[in-house]
Amino acid sequence: MTARKKPEDLRSHRWFGADDLRSFGHRSRMRQIGYDADDWRGKPVIGIINTWSDINACHAHLRARAEDVKRGVLQAGGFPLELPAISLAEPFVKPTTMLYRNFLAMETEELLRSHPIDGAILLGGCDKTTPGLIMGAISMGLPAIFCPAGPMLRGNWRGQTLGSGSDVWKYWDEKRAGKITEADWADIENGIARSFGTCMTMGTAATMMAIAEVLGLTLPGASSLPAADAGHPRMCAVAGRRIVDMVWEDLTPAKILTPASFENAIKVHMAMGGSTNAIIHVVAMARRAGIALSLEQFDALSRQVPVIANVRPSGAHLMEDFFYAGGLPALMKVLADKLDGSAMTANGRTLGENIARAEVFHPDVIRSLDQAIYAEGATAVLKGNLAPRGAVMKPSAAEPRLRQHRGKAVVFRDYSHMAAEIERDDLDVTPDHVLVLQSAGPKGGPGMPEWGMLPIPRKLVRAGVRDMLRISDGRMSGTSYGACILHVSPESFVGGPLALVKTGDEIEVDVAQRRLHLHVSDEELAKRKAAWVAPAPRYERGYGRMFQEHIGQADDGCDFDFLEHGADVPEPEIH
Ligand code: FES
Repeated sequence: MTARKKPEDLRSHRWFGADDLRSFGHRSRMRQIGYDADDWRGKPVIGIINTWSDINACHAHLRARAEDVKRGVLQAGGFPLELPAISLAEPFVKPTTMLYRNFLAMETEELLRSHPIDGAILLGGCDKTTPGLIMGAISMGLPAIFCPAGPMLRGNWRGQTLGSGSDVWKYWDEKRAGKITEADWADIENGIARSFGTCMTMGTAATMMAIAEVLGLTLPGASSLPAADAGHPRMCAVAGRRIVDMVWEDLTPAKILTPASFENAIKVHMAMGGSTNAIIHVVAMARRAGIALSLEQFDALSRQVPVIANVRPSGAHLMEDFFYAGGLPALMKVLADKLDGSAMTANGRTLGENIARAEVFHPDVIRSLDQAIYAEGATAVLKGNLAPRGAVMKPSAAEPRLRQHRGKAVVFRDYSHMAAEIERDDLDVTPDHVLVLQSAGPKGGPGMPEWGMLPIPRKLVRAGVRDMLRISDGRMSGTSYGACILHVSPESFVGGPLALVKTGDEIEVDVAQRRLHLHVSDEELAKRKAAWVAPAPRYERGYGRMFQEHIGQADDGCDFDFLEHGADVPEPEIH
């Protein structure tokens, strides 16, 4: 264990401890805010990066939680300072929050770097905020604890449980099919989101918060705590106390994150039936830590781990039930033989120590390995001439008949084209067709929007069809389901083979063989490629221009090339 830091070793000492003109300015301005030397002298300064905003329902409680964190920091002899960051509210931010994940990562890193901060508490949880905050914190390298926002309470409609996202898609199709009324639909709108907190299905938010915990970046059990549970503010206060000690111990992300901890995270992701989005984020977070992960690793680990979390959309229950069943520590206890228990975590103990007392209380919610809800892991990585760098699929959420399928393509050149066609009663489509959406990738979307769960054509919905094979270079919400092949890489916008598919071409998918094949000859594809014209860039100026010039493809984690792990960024000079 590294020797504990001394007060003069603190990073903030450079701002407050020197005897010069600038330090005078720093101290006098702190006094202007109402603090004096007793607040900061010799104390770790803890930056609370808060992604609260008035328009982020998932983070509505984070203003209050920041106060709980501050209480803990003060109890442990630290000095808390709250720093607001962009709040990526999944339902509201357009064209997609994914356009701004790297923005939040940059902001987190630079907020920490440019201020007199010694350690960080990261408050977030709505989809992209977890990877954004963590990517920035990894790159900055200060001790940090992520406090997950936690899932909201179960939805309710006429005594039936409603799950975020999953039940929206389900009842939207029921409405399109004429099976529920407008009044029913309005009642569902009232009942589906009953408290602050993130989506309470196993969507991207629940998946990423859990992955943060497996990686050792939260306190044990933190990711499963419902946002409205009294344990949630208590967890935040404990994190506030703990981060002060982490600064003295210099327990940085680099000492916590290893190839083994990422392998643990992927295995748990598979056991939870987690969101496909997590693959992109885990690759990006690992790369920030200097650890290369390939899609093949996800696929190989997926084959070793069954889905044991019986939570929607792959299963039946919701995150509140998962918490009562023992939460993530209990799920990891079931998987213990498959995990590296020696991985270090934020509380200074190993993963194995943290889950030693965990137990499953509801075996239908967290299943045993031999009662799995799906025998193999949640995610299959497919490759073939249609996706040379890979594509992903969640077979556990698809109708079994579509896991091996060959059908004719119906191609939509972009989202607007699809939206205009999909409701047409004369659309030439059958349940065996394969719906293909182009221009939904990182550059084409732009920002790789969650368009990958293409709607079933209305005439087929009315006929009772609820699943079809769908292929795109976009993503889909973790709360979505169906036979959707996503993240096709390289994307169509840069001339990947997806750009060359035409309506009527035959496409074959074989999940067991991990194969995705376009039945068009190489000669014909070469001809189409020669005739392909690159579309004009989406942005001429602003952040969007920087995004399109530096964004990586899905299999690389969609990070900006200049943000990946590499040479250290120097500490700011103070003059
Ligand atoms: Fe925030 Fe789903 S909308 S987590």
